[in-house]
Amino acid sequence: VRSLESQACHPADLRALLDFSGGWDSKAAGLVGWGPGAAAACCSWTGVACDLGRVVALDLSNRSLHGVISPAVASLDGLAALNLSRNALCGAAPEALARLPMLRALDLSANAL
Ligand SMILES: *[C@@H]1O[C@H](CO)[C@@H](O)[C@H](O)[C@H]1NC(C)=O
Ligand SMILES: *[C@@H]1O[C@H](CO)[C@@H](O)[C@H](O)[C@H]1NC(C)=O
Repeated sequence: VRSLESQACHPADLRALLDFSGGWDSKAAGLVGWGPGAAAACCSWTGVACDLGRVVALDLSNRSLHGVISPAVASLDGLAALNLSRNALCGAAPEALARLPMLRALDLSANAL
């Protein structure tokens, strides 16, 4: 897994990350990057790991995130690991997560799902 500073992610992954984080207060969550202004370096955003520009892992555990999990995360079709544990996320886990072809590790524990 490569995660070079300033590495750009695939435009479809960028769209998915922005849609996924749409409802969050990224400052409060201590997320660096995470916005259209920092789009050119989406692979170096907090918790994002890429391989050849595709997002392969997302670790946003223990970030005080609340609200529902946007199904947009399931558009990251290279995603192999997703960790959203220890937040205050509610609602249901998006069904579309089950269709992510590369997903091997999913941790949604310690939320209010
Ligand atoms: C998710 O992150 C937490 C740390 O907040 C860690 O303890 C846990 O092992 C991680 N889950 C996975 C599946 O790696
Ligand atoms: C969760 O985050 C808080 C605040 O940043 C920190 O104090 C705490 O040690 C973290 N807990 C875990 C299990 O990582």
